[in-house]
Formats: sequence, structure tokens, C-alpha cells
Amino acid sequence: MNQIEEKLTGCYESIRGRLPFVPQTALVLGSGLGGYAESGNIRVEGTLDYQDIQGFPRSTVEGHKGRFVFGYVEEVPVVCMQGRVHYYEGYAMSDVVLPVRLMRLMGAETLFLTNAAGGINKDYRPGDLMLIRDHISSLVPSPLIGPNLDSLGPRFCDMTDTYDAEYRTVMKETAAAAGIPLQEGVYIQFSGPQYETPAEIRMARMLGADAAGMSTVCEAIAAHHAGMRICGISCITNMAAGVTGEKLSHEEVQETADEAAERFQKLITAGILAVSRKTGA
Ligand code: HPA
Repeated sequence: MNQIEEKLTGCYESIRGRLPFVPQTALVLGSGLGGYAESGNIRVEGTLDYQDIQGFPRSTVEGHKGRFVFGYVEEVPVVCMQGRVHYYEGYAMSDVVLPVRLMRLMGAETLFLTNAAGGINKDYRPGDLMLIRDHISSLVPSPLIGPNLDSLGPRFCDMTDTYDAEYRTVMKETAAAAGIPLQEGVYIQFSGPQYETPAEIRMARMLGADAAGMSTVCEAIAAHHAGMRICGISCITNMAAGVTGEKLSHEEVQETADEAAERFQKLITAGILAVSRKTGA
């Protein structure tokens, strides 16, 4: 067993006796969605603080609580990550994706990834929600670099349908039925923590990106490698650098995320249920 696998297995062994159930769906709560676990959308059955898991990387960003929340969204058993681990905090990529792999080991087969992102596409507006159709990972290291975790997935992983096509169809139908406008586009991950420059955003637009952020892509790669079916949703909290000429701030990002939170939560809940009921996942 290689070091990455050893660490992951160690984490899993240390918590397996403390899990309230086998989750079907895993959910990573991005900025602004952190309150989801306390929102009444989930019947909470238990929590597990990251700090109580031996060897688990800890989030250092303000506003990111560090714990797993276990509960039911109606009949669907769900595990949520309240607080994610970011690459810009200084962790190795294998640590950044450890929590997602851990949720896979817990039994989750479906992964909902959420985030706050800057709008690159000029048709977008702050507050818009965007279904992730595809991503560009080329600006950050792959979490699969290093010895392959053969027990999870193959060395050379196909990335054609990373964001599950059937889930995307279900999400678009669900959003339409709920009257929630939903964009669809390509997400590009920058390392952060600094926001991008206008030149970087122009480059990203030329490459075909619609939204920019500092997370999600590495998690999607690790989850897809491990055979999870993925749904990704961004909250466009601001227009990316240079689009309007206005400066970016973390406060603006949080404010817009908070304003959109109710709509975002409604879409996530409806999406988890629809995906589970329509695809049997
Ligand atoms: N860039 C990168 N990450 C972000 C942004 C942005 O403009 N907004 C929220 N997260």
C-alpha cells in the first residue's frame, strides 16, 4: 500500500465505527452553502468533526466549518462536508481530495459539488447558478499524480463524462420545474488564493471557460477516478476580474452567496431527490 492509500485507509478505519449509516449521496458545501446542514433541508443524524479524525487535513478559512454532517434529505441518506480543504491553504493535492475519497469509502456513489465562482461569461450576472458541464484543470496539479490508488480507480482515467450527463438533464428539468433559472457552463480552477488578473480571465474566456474558482475541479477528478457520479453547481458571486472593472472582494463574494443561499439550497435539495429518484442513484 502506498502512503496516500495508507493515510486514507487509516482515516477510514478510525471513523467506520462512528458512522450513523451508509450515505448514498455526498455533498461538498461551498461558500454560502455552509448553512445548508442547519437549514431544515436535512434531518441531521450525526456529525463528525474533522479534528477528531486522525490524519485528516484541516480547513483554515474563516467561515468554513470543519465537519461531516450526516442526515437524510427526505429518504436519501447524505453526508455533507461543511468546509472543504483548499489547495491554496498549502496542502498536497492528495490531502485536498482525501475527504472526497473518504466519502467514497463510506459508500457514497453520487457527489454534489458546490462552490462560489466568478463569472467569465458576459451573459452571467452575480447571483446566477451554473450547472457545471465540464471543467479545465490545466492550471492546477492533478490529484492523481503519484502512485495510483488501484483500489479506487485506473491509472489513466477517462474524463469524457466527468459531470454525469444524465444528472445534468435531471438537474435542468428540476430547476425548470422549481422556477429556478440555471446557466450551464465550463468551470476553470485557478490555484488562488489571490483572485485572477483581468489578463488571466481573458485567457480563461479564450480557453472556453464560463466561470472561475479555486476548488471543485481537483475534487471532481478524484471522485470521477473513484467511480462516483458527479453533479457540480456554481453560484456566480461576482463577475470575474476585468469583466466590469470593479475590484473583487471576499466580502462581496460572501454577500452574494448569502443572498443566493435560499435558491441554491432549494435547488440542491430538489436535485438530490430528483437524481436519486430518477436515476436510482
Ligand atoms: N475567482 C476565483 N474564485 C472565486 C471568484 C473569482 O472571481 N469568486 C468566488 N470565488
